[in-house]
Amino acid sequence: MPSLIPSIASLMSDAKPVILTCAQPTGQLTIGNYLGAVKNWATMLDDYECYFGVVDLHAITVKYSPADLRKNTLSCVAQYIACGLDPERSNIFVQSHVIGHTDLAWLLSCITPIGDLQRMTQFKEKAAKLGFKAGEGNDLKFTHDGARAGASVNSGLLMYPVLMAADILLYNADAVPVGNDQRQHLELCRDLAQRFNHNYSDTFTIPKPFIPKQGARIMALQDPERKMSKSDENQSSTLYILDEASVLKKKIMSAVTDSSSEIVASEDKPGVSNLLQIYSMMSGRTVADIEGSLKGEGYGTLKKEVADAVISVFEPVQAKYKDLIDDKSYLEGVLRSGASAAQKRAYKVLGKVYRKAGFVERPR
Ligand code: TRP
Repeated sequence: MPSLIPSIASLMSDAKPVILTCAQPTGQLTIGNYLGAVKNWATMLDDYECYFGVVDLHAITVKYSPADLRKNTLSCVAQYIACGLDPERSNIFVQSHVIGHTDLAWLLSCITPIGDLQRMTQFKEKAAKLGFKAGEGNDLKFTHDGARAGASVNSGLLMYPVLMAADILLYNADAVPVGNDQRQHLELCRDLAQRFNHNYSDTFTIPKPFIPKQGARIMALQDPERKMSKSDENQSSTLYILDEASVLKKKIMSAVTDSSSEIVASEDKPGVSNLLQIYSMMSGRTVADIEGSLKGEGYGTLKKEVADAVISVFEPVQAKYKDLIDDKSYLEGVLRSGASAAQKRAYKVLGKVYRKAGFVERPR
């Protein structure tokens, strides 16, 4: 009888390295998300086995509305596909659809010192926003500015990086594309993987950060010293991929530049440098080439060309998005097959983890 188990050699021959990355379903993607993340992910589909997770369980660590969460999760999936994440060549899934993320997070939490979590920069920032100030070192106490106002820091917020570590380790991912702001979380994930392997013998692959060839630090249009951000109070600072052409144009035309009128990228011209970077990344032309072709022109011309470049990339993305978001059964199909591929891999790893950690196997 032929063996149903594939030989190791056959498994090795077509095994591609596994890449996993996730993002929270926070409504609209910005041009920074597009250039710094999604566009890069889309170039990796053929060389890696790719898993893209929309992490809805992370989204509830802060105040949210269930209706928005539902809407944003589907919208996020449609935006990814519209930006070029081909579901035929990758696995796009929703975190809450796959059993194992929270289970593994629990196991990992039992080998995570609380102090390591309290030290996380992002936790401290988010707690501070709620009106709390982290105590000295590993101190559990928060000063009670916010407590008086009835605020509290939920333990999910503290656990956030453990859940993130579980997202990654559940797939034994080889590499994780992340932005700079997530490096500390990835470092914790690597520590946890190493600790688990040390305690219970080799189980997890130690994931590497994946740094894209072309990074992107897109700055706020109205304040080019700060990073462009979704949560900017001045929304004309932020370009969204789903902004209508007229809105994109208006925001770009009103971008802050500087008083001298030369079109060159330099440190003392952050506004112009930012526009040149956007132009370059959206058009594929080098900054030097653009500077050359705009010699002697004014900022108005630069802005108009930047707007044209942005619009010509985003218009087809928007058209595709409109088709997708109206086609609920297609999106469901994508998420069904994404979840099933993800679940298959997740179950394998979770089974191994449970065995190693000493849990009695579930009777069949
Ligand atoms: N914390 C990440 C962010 O806010 C999102 C995230 C959750 C993630 N789980 C992940 C990123 C796993 C990479 C891998 O951007």
